[in-house]
Amino acid sequence: MSFDLVLFGGTGDLAWRKLMPALFQAFRHGTLPEGGRIIGVGRDDLSHEQYRDLIRQRFDKVDLAKRPSADEFARFAALLEFVRMDLSKPDDYTRLAQTLQERQADTVVMYVATAPALFTTVCEQLAASGLNTPHTRVVLEKPLGHDLASNRAINQTVRRFFSENQIFRIDHYLGKPSVQNLFALRFGNALFEPLWRREHIANIQITMAEDLGVESRGAFYETTGALRDMVQNHALQLLCAIAMEPPINAHADAIRDEKLKVLRSLKPWTTESLTQDVVRGQYSAGVSGGNKVPAYRDEPGVNPHSNTETFVALRTEIANWRWAGVPFYIRTGKRLAGRDARIVVNFRPTPHAIFNTHAGLANRLVINLQPKDGLELHLMAQGQENRSSRAAAAQNLSPVQLDLDFDKRFGAERVGAYERLLLDVIDGRLNLFVRSDEQEEAWRWVEPMINHWATDSQGPRPYASGTWGPSASSAMIARDGFCWSEEN
Ligand code: BG6
Repeated sequence: MSFDLVLFGGTGDLAWRKLMPALFQAFRHGTLPEGGRIIGVGRDDLSHEQYRDLIRQRFDKVDLAKRPSADEFARFAALLEFVRMDLSKPDDYTRLAQTLQERQADTVVMYVATAPALFTTVCEQLAASGLNTPHTRVVLEKPLGHDLASNRAINQTVRRFFSENQIFRIDHYLGKPSVQNLFALRFGNALFEPLWRREHIANIQITMAEDLGVESRGAFYETTGALRDMVQNHALQLLCAIAMEPPINAHADAIRDEKLKVLRSLKPWTTESLTQDVVRGQYSAGVSGGNKVPAYRDEPGVNPHSNTETFVALRTEIANWRWAGVPFYIRTGKRLAGRDARIVVNFRPTPHAIFNTHAGLANRLVINLQPKDGLELHLMAQGQENRSSRAAAAQNLSPVQLDLDFDKRFGAERVGAYERLLLDVIDGRLNLFVRSDEQEEAWRWVEPMINHWATDSQGPRPYASGTWGPSASSAMIARDGFCWSEEN
């Protein structure tokens, strides 16, 4: 099957850091279908050769497990071409059309990795140049809009020219092997299903912590913030994966139908819950990885008086029979104490204690997403007996854990998120992509927070870089009698 992959934003940050390395890995692993062309699109005046050269230079800066040899890179580079375009100019699309017509690939993928403001223009112009054929697929990067209205406007325009099954809204968290394993854990094993409900689960915590700051993306981040960058998409998709009902089969719409139901069941915000159950923060100077690092307001491209949040912690509930009353806590932030993404399922404690066990210790399932990819099941066990105090020892239990490390089990060089998702687009598999109604529902739910902050004079709470965020985040969860998983 031949394919042409057109990468709008072909000289952008995402192309350098994620997309080109992912395509290269697929090429290296022999999973990229043969007969493909990768066409970078950008404003610079570059020849094919210069573009290939730029990519080779960038590859020195990204983590590729193993550096490509000159010969290996040359074979990959043979797939790469460059088309110079100003995306607002209709004539430039004609030039792209000519390039695509040089050969009629079976599948044409239009990957729109540009500023969201350009999504509708690109789709309109593709259609005007006759490039919205039935074998075209369009990939849209997040954030798709900045609120519900702008998201709807983008979706409506794109659907005028492409049918829903040609639109691949990407959320790279869904492509992570660890998230695949979450689906496998829940729907490939019967063990946890009877326990996966309010009767047995005390609370669920989703943490997506980054130790890095905004780096060179200050200007982008100023208009985005953690809520739009991480919560509206990645965090809510993880929440859906953990809370959804088993789908009737593994087809895209069966999965998306169930995710949609979760989003529709999220407890609506009230003035009170917006004040009590949401904490926004912004990093100040501190120490990260042993180095002094600047405050967010001192990062390049950031307004020195910025109120953009780099941290969000929130508490919500899912109003349905399975989950009513179970708190779900979401927390994400930049410049936190470490790079650590995990979901913690805290089970209820034993109903009656016959051991002298420290109260509050209960079973816990930890789904580690990164940097480690694995599962930990925390159990209570009778530890080593101390001969001098045998009677006391018999009364005491200690926490132990079953630890499954998927990298060790399956090999660390597993298919990365973007690699998998790009291959899925080429194959036309929509399972791991987000449908428009899911996205709209997610925007509908985050919008009250955006509106509340717009009128809230308090602004984000400062937290020192290298910590776990503002203390108000711990206070919020403590109100329910719980604590974040790293605190116990
Ligand atoms: C992206 C956000 O979607 O996800 C970034 O725009 C963030 O701000 C990144 O750093 C985190 O992804 P990962 O895979 O490194 O956890």
